[in-house]
Amino acid sequence: MRFLISGGQRLTGEVELAGSKSEATKLMIASLLTSEECIFENFPRIGDTKITAELCSSVGSRISQEGTILRMAAPAITNHRVTSLSRRNRIPILAIGPLLARVGQAEVPFVGGDQIGHRPVDLHLEALAALGAEVKLTNHTYQAMVRGRLRGAHIKFRFPSVGATENAVLAAVLAKGRTIISNAAVEPELIDLIKMLQKMGAIIELGANRTIYIDGVDRLRGVTHTVLPDRNEAVSFACLTLATNGRVLVRQAQQEHLITFLNALRRIGGEYEVVKEGIIFYRNRPLSGIEIETDCHPGFMTDWQQPFTALLTQANGISVVHETIYEDRFGYTEDLNRMGANIHVFSKCLGELNCRFNGQGCRHSAVIHGPTPLRAVNHEMRDLRAGMVNVIGALIADGQSVISGIEEIDRGYQDIDERLRKLGADIKRVE
Ligand code: EPU
Repeated sequence: MRFLISGGQRLTGEVELAGSKSEATKLMIASLLTSEECIFENFPRIGDTKITAELCSSVGSRISQEGTILRMAAPAITNHRVTSLSRRNRIPILAIGPLLARVGQAEVPFVGGDQIGHRPVDLHLEALAALGAEVKLTNHTYQAMVRGRLRGAHIKFRFPSVGATENAVLAAVLAKGRTIISNAAVEPELIDLIKMLQKMGAIIELGANRTIYIDGVDRLRGVTHTVLPDRNEAVSFACLTLATNGRVLVRQAQQEHLITFLNALRRIGGEYEVVKEGIIFYRNRPLSGIEIETDCHPGFMTDWQQPFTALLTQANGISVVHETIYEDRFGYTEDLNRMGANIHVFSKCLGELNCRFNGQGCRHSAVIHGPTPLRAVNHEMRDLRAGMVNVIGALIADGQSVISGIEEIDRGYQDIDERLRKLGADIKRVE
């Protein structure tokens, strides 16, 4: 499938955010912790939830979706071995804890996901081992078992990994005794997962300094829970709006989850109004350059740097983006440069502080000279967020761009072409 996009239109009007990709998939895995039904509201229809549904169905979940309501129940785990779905996304490893809690054994495929760095899973495996899981690697899978129940432990992360924290939480809620997770991730989607687990009967405290305390319980019950609006979509729509010099109300956008982004946006000359229905984005003055650094929450999120960099190609002066979460997340700048952007990527840390990639030769700092007009170029989407950059570039550019490999963007943005068309974009989906 491809997108045909003719640039030059200002985006105007209103758009509604879908439920968060990063949260929805984790809630599906959390539903495996109970034999009772879980009902999820504001549930997105995206590629990554379909892959996760395949995983959950293969172990015994019955799943149905009507509109934005997803119902799931796994009265029994009918199979603890999932050997297909290898490297499709990063979710399968999160199922180890729930499967061990239910049936004492688990086999799940290696994780995949976007090629934006090595993305090891050492922290996941260390957390599971600390809780008493015995995990072996086969050629394509992680095989885990536990004698009796998992046992609470003190898990100290070297880095506040989102996935490893989720893994530890999902494994600890039904473990015997107390688990303390130090240097945990505190992203809003993860906090919302914790809120869902609490509603299911878990005992979880959020302490100071990224510490999570969990007292394991014997069982969890079913729940109804609403998925947060996707803040990555909110940022993408904000960048699209400013890049095309438009004005868009992003319905459901929540200021609380976007504070760092909103500050960066205003610093470059973007403006916004927080209203009851969401946030209205527009430009106040010509855009100007900025220095930013990605970080764990509440910092500037790594998933925001791609649409923001695309926007910075339209800002006056020099901008610097220092990526400190992934060592290789600037591949898409080659696509922008082919369109006429002026972006150089360096291996030095071009930020306030040296990050953990300093001196390792990873090209993780970008310098953008702007503004540069962009011209239409044909692209193959590299990954989900790079795909959004291709779309933003094409909407700014003169002429028609053909963008293939759009399954990438479909993994995380629901009906993106339809929603952009309603905002006035000239975008068609073709075979
Ligand atoms: N890391 C390790 N060891 C581990 C786990 C992570 O070294 O065991 C490193 C990673 O290599 C990376 C950093 O820690 O350099 C951050 O990884 P993290 O585990 O926090 O990320 P993740 O859980 O794999 C999720 C989102 C990403 C998002 C990050 C950061 C999902 C499925 N993915 O990934 O989303 O960028 O958190 O917020 O939730 C995207 O949506 O485009 C995307 C890549």
